[in-house]
Amino acid sequence: MKLCRWIVVLALVGAATAVTAQDLKSPSADQYVPRLGDIMSAAQTRHQKLWLASKAQNWELSAYELRQLKASLVEAALLYSGIPVSNVTTLEPSLQATSDAIATKDGRKFAKALGDLTEGCNACHRSMGRSFVVIKVPADPQPFANQLFAPPARP
Ligand code: HEC
Repeated sequence: MKLCRWIVVLALVGAATAVTAQDLKSPSADQYVPRLGDIMSAAQTRHQKLWLASKAQNWELSAYELRQLKASLVEAALLYSGIPVSNVTTLEPSLQATSDAIATKDGRKFAKALGDLTEGCNACHRSMGRSFVVIKVPADPQPFANQLFAPPARP
């Protein structure tokens, strides 16, 4: 009985050590490149949280979510060379305006800046054959309340 327990303990310790060593050295972990859709899903979550944080006047969290959102967009442009750099740089003024609104805790300016930023998301989607992915400024705190799921009107 006692021996049996020791074997189990040793097996668990061994397993834990092996996992840690593998975690550090695993070549697949080094080479992992997130799929663009996954980076965008993270951007969507951060866009939503950015809005929620500003609604709650949690400006520190807003600033954090904005940094995270910006990092997602930069990552997308760096990892996916098919994305025109200009599609990301045109977002710079609205990112800056959002950042300024957060710094001055100005809810009204924030709403305008987030609207412009969101239009920037959609402008890139339209230019890259993804016009069916329509992001909107959330209206309620439901998860993914920042994406329109109805088909856009065709011209
Ligand atoms: C520079 C171009 C560009 C910008 C800017 C951009 N996107 Fe995207 N986005 C894409 C592309 C391209 C796809 C399609 C990815 C694919 O098909 O794998 C996409 C897809 C998405 C998707 C669909 C992912 C899914 O799996 O459902 C979401 C959500 C999304 N973007 C959110 C955003 C948000 C939010 C912003 C702005 C904060 C944004 N995107 C800004 C290029 C962009």
